[in-house]
Amino acid sequence: MMWNQTGVTQLLGITYPIVQAGMAGVSSPSIVAEVSNAGCLGTLGASYMSPQDITSAIKDIQALTDKPFAVNLFVTQRAIVFSPELQKMQTELAPFRIELELTEPDAIDFEWYDLTQQVQAVVDAGVKIISFTFGIPSADIVTMLHEAGVTIIGTATTVKEAVMIEDAGFHIVVAQGMEAGGHRASFASEDELAVQVGLMSLVPQMVDQVGVPVIAAGGIMDGRSIVAALALGAQGVQLGSAFLLTDESSAVEAYKKALLDTNDESTIVTKLFSGKPARVIANRFTKVLHSLEDNVPAFPLQNTLTSDIRKMAAVVGDTDLMSLYAGQSSCLGRELSARELIDTLVSEVATNQFQYHDASDQN
Ligand SMILES: Cc1cc2nc3c(=O)[nH]c(=O)nc-3n(C[C@H](O)[C@H](O)[C@H](O)COP(=O)(O)O)c2cc1C
Repeated sequence: MMWNQTGVTQLLGITYPIVQAGMAGVSSPSIVAEVSNAGCLGTLGASYMSPQDITSAIKDIQALTDKPFAVNLFVTQRAIVFSPELQKMQTELAPFRIELELTEPDAIDFEWYDLTQQVQAVVDAGVKIISFTFGIPSADIVTMLHEAGVTIIGTATTVKEAVMIEDAGFHIVVAQGMEAGGHRASFASEDELAVQVGLMSLVPQMVDQVGVPVIAAGGIMDGRSIVAALALGAQGVQLGSAFLLTDESSAVEAYKKALLDTNDESTIVTKLFSGKPARVIANRFTKVLHSLEDNVPAFPLQNTLTSDIRKMAAVVGDTDLMSLYAGQSSCLGRELSARELIDTLVSEVATNQFQYHDASDQN
């Protein structure tokens, strides 16, 4: 049996069951194309992009590859702008703005792109794979995608969410373990912050309960973790932090260095940057604002409020105030090109497979 011939490789038309996570803001057209050209699935993280920008980024990718790739979108409600917490939060953020020599914006644009129009842009550009996080889009959108022959991937943090995704007519589900960097995909959890299922528990329970192939995500950085995920029943893996460190990612150098400087205790799950729980490297921003965790304006309001601070901190390389989305295994990452990373992962899987540490290793 070949490790790389799975339901996921068949459905997606790829050579290796490795997916580069769509990472809004950091997955450039070049990383998407490089990953797809290397036989895996590149994903454009398009959530923060207008339909027009999505169209043009897809054109850029299509100029670089004729292999399949995906576009990833958030299922987000339009923001309710009249939140009493907003002004209080601005007061709390003021010292960071002074530090970064920013002035509080007069008006904040809470406009959020319409998901139907974003999806339409993807379909019109001829992309055949789409992935969603934060929920399930409307039945109208799912029907539109079915009619266009698009393969739909959903993201679940619990078995319940995976069953809902399968029932909605999706073709593949990503099991996002609590190790994962970035936003938690949760949308039907009792308590988004408290319910944190690890990948070791999530994958076997999910594959027992859903019929569609499962892709494992969270803490996967090298061949041994790919082998482990496949052994648990996943038919593919999705890596975010590992691809953040590649040459083609648009993460700034200070961010990459911070990822490599982590250890297993460095990350926390917090709503402080965006209003939605996300795994980040703990820094001065999260420590100073820690007591506000229960009073953060909901996503995407907080995301918009902190946007100027996060962006300027990235420009000046101030990791104290940047949003450093990162998985629990980030320090196992390697600074390589996307292609070198994939070649390395594939050869590690081939050599690691079924190599157990027995007593003879302990000399
Ligand atoms: C910087 C960053 C940005 C991310 N952005 C997205 C996104 O836009 N959409 C999405 O579905 N997942 C996003 N994720 C989560 C990934 O899809 C994936 O679940 C996660 O990276 C897996 O854990 P790992 O980082 O340990 O590999 C992001 C992750 C990171 C680290």
